[in-house]
Amino acid sequence: MAGLLTEQTRARIHEAIHHYPESRSAAKAALRLAQEQLGWLSPEAVAEVAVEMDLDPNALYQLSTFYDMFYNQPVGRYVLGVCDNLSCCLRGSDRLVEHLQARLGIKPGETTPDGVFTLKTVDCLASCGTAPVMMVNEEYHERLTLEAVDRLLDELRARTKA
Ligand code: FES
Repeated sequence: MAGLLTEQTRARIHEAIHHYPESRSAAKAALRLAQEQLGWLSPEAVAEVAVEMDLDPNALYQLSTFYDMFYNQPVGRYVLGVCDNLSCCLRGSDRLVEHLQARLGIKPGETTPDGVFTLKTVDCLASCGTAPVMMVNEEYHERLTLEAVDRLLDELRARTKA
């Protein structure tokens, strides 16, 4: 069946299923594989994953909306997820968010017009001892200062031009 998911992604989803005693236990792994291919998870994409896993598409879509790591709308090349829970707030994450908003010209939940950055605030990243913390895609950046954020943005922008 032609669809959004490639044959390779479908094969990887089936491989993931085999690592678990039942199909639904592999739901997050399968969604991650679909997102890896497509960049984000539309309802149609989630429905295709559900068919592969023999799961209810609505339940799978709801699962995808529960976790910060899944994107239910298109995102930029770099997703900046600033933790706004207590430890990070106490160590200035609100100032980081304000700074990022000013530098990028977007608010949390938005993407820069050039498609490079999406800004989000996220729940505790389980690295409270190194607050304030921000994830850039899958990578942690800890003990952040405004200067470190500036350096990071410059580096990421340079990468998009390389
Ligand atoms: S409060 Fe930010 S990592 Fe836990």
